[in-house]
Amino acid sequence: MNQRENKTAGPLTRFLADDHRRLDIQLRAAVVDAGPVDPGAYAQFRAGLLRHIGMEEKILLPAVQRLRVGEPLPIAAKLRLDHGALAALLMPTPTAAIAATIKAILADHNALEEGTGGLYEICDQLAGSEAESLLAKLRAAPEVTVMPHSGSPAVMNVLRRTLERAGY
Ligand SMILES: [Fe+2]
Ligand SMILES: [Fe+2]
Repeated sequence: MNQRENKTAGPLTRFLADDHRRLDIQLRAAVVDAGPVDPGAYAQFRAGLLRHIGMEEKILLPAVQRLRVGEPLPIAAKLRLDHGALAALLMPTPTAAIAATIKAILADHNALEEGTGGLYEICDQLAGSEAESLLAKLRAAPEVTVMPHSGSPAVMNVLRRTLERAGY
C-alpha cells in the first residue's frame, strides 16, 4: 500500500495493514538472506501471524458475512484456504525454505486483503458506524496458544495436503 492510499484508508484497513507491516518486519528479522532462522524472532512472528489470522477468521470474516446478511464474500473461501496453508507452514521447525514460502504466500494474500476492492476496504465500507466497535474487538483479540514445533510425518502430511488444497 502506498502512502496516499494509507492516508485515505478507513480505520480497519489502517489497523490490519499496519499489522501486516509489523509481521513483515518480524519475518525479515527472523531470516536474513536465506541464512539460519533466528528462533526467538521467528517465535514472535509465528505468534503474531496466528493472532492476525485469528482476528480475520473469528472476528472480521464473520462480521462481513453478517453485514452482508449471511452472504459470504466471494474471496473469503480463498482467504481461508490461504490461512490454513499459512498455519500449516508454521507447524514444522522453520527453515529458510519454509520462511520463503510463507513470505511468497503473504505477498499475494496481503495484497488481496489490502488492495482496492479487497477484504479490508469492503470491511470499512460495510462496517460504517460499527467500525469503531469492530476495531475494539480486533484490538482485544487474545494471543493464540502456540504449540511446540513438530516435523512428524503426520504434520508434514497435513502441510502437504493443506498447501495442495490452497493451490500452492
Ligand atoms: Fe489474512
Ligand atoms: Fe491479513
